[in-house]
Amino acid sequence: MRKTRKEYTDANRVAWDEAAAKHAAHNNAALFAAARDPDFVCLQGEILNTLQQVGVDAKQIIQLGCNNARETLSLRNLGAARCVGVDASAEFLAHGHELIRIAGAEAQVELVEADIYELPQKFAAEFDLVLVTIGVISWLPDLKAFFEVVRSLLKPGGQLVMQEMHPVLFMYEEDPDGGVSVPRYSYFSGEVWEETSGLDYYANETYESAPNYSFMHRLDEILMAAIASDLQLSRFVELDYDISNFCSDLEHSPVKPPLGFVMVMNAQ
Ligand SMILES: C[S@@+](CC[C@H](N)C(=O)[O-])C[C@H]1O[C@@H](n2cnc3c(N)ncnc32)[C@H](O)[C@@H]1O
Repeated sequence: MRKTRKEYTDANRVAWDEAAAKHAAHNNAALFAAARDPDFVCLQGEILNTLQQVGVDAKQIIQLGCNNARETLSLRNLGAARCVGVDASAEFLAHGHELIRIAGAEAQVELVEADIYELPQKFAAEFDLVLVTIGVISWLPDLKAFFEVVRSLLKPGGQLVMQEMHPVLFMYEEDPDGGVSVPRYSYFSGEVWEETSGLDYYANETYESAPNYSFMHRLDEILMAAIASDLQLSRFVELDYDISNFCSDLEHSPVKPPLGFVMVMNAQ
């Protein structure tokens, strides 16, 4: 039986909190050292190109699903005036606070612990840009409500910039022995995935985790949910390179599916 939206997001928060220590062990020493550089920017490739085209300088930006805030900090280093990072995981945000402190970015970066679906009203129509990057929308049970939140955050003329794993990628399964990833699932399954094998996408370490739930949203569902929330598509690029560390062998496959996408949506 399907759970309520809140039951899904509450369960996922527990699993993400649990993953924070795993990510930190693999990642935080290098990340914290890198963050001392005022030019630290971890955004790269098409998402960086797109952000530079739409312009970040002096803007007010909110990132939804900011995790440890490495990308939120990058926005500040690219010249944003004010950056708000939102995540449901208190554990990842604790690492984010440490990162922002090390970078000396407290004056420009605010981190908020909240479920995306329950953001405080004070943020309504406050932002020039909403940023969403790799691996957020697949955790969200209700796309329509998500894009309504995005729309409510934007000033008139504001923009959503999104970089995500391509939904076609979710048809594939990794080979546990490091061989070739193969398509195993229908693009049209509409599946809710319950997993208990952990959320470590840095070292792909598996561990018995709290149950977490992800959703196979098709591309037409993503686009139509955004359009239904009065957002207008102004840029859409499919990516032929790995952005997620999931089935990354496909980047070098002679029969390559789309691996990611970057899109920009404009609010009226
Ligand atoms: C894959 S991580 C994002 C990683 C980030 N793009 C990066 O590259 O550093 C997904 C994040 O979304 C957050 N998240 C998932 N569902 C959420 C929700 N309903 N509200 C707020 N955050 C959520 C998780 O806690 C997690 O930190």
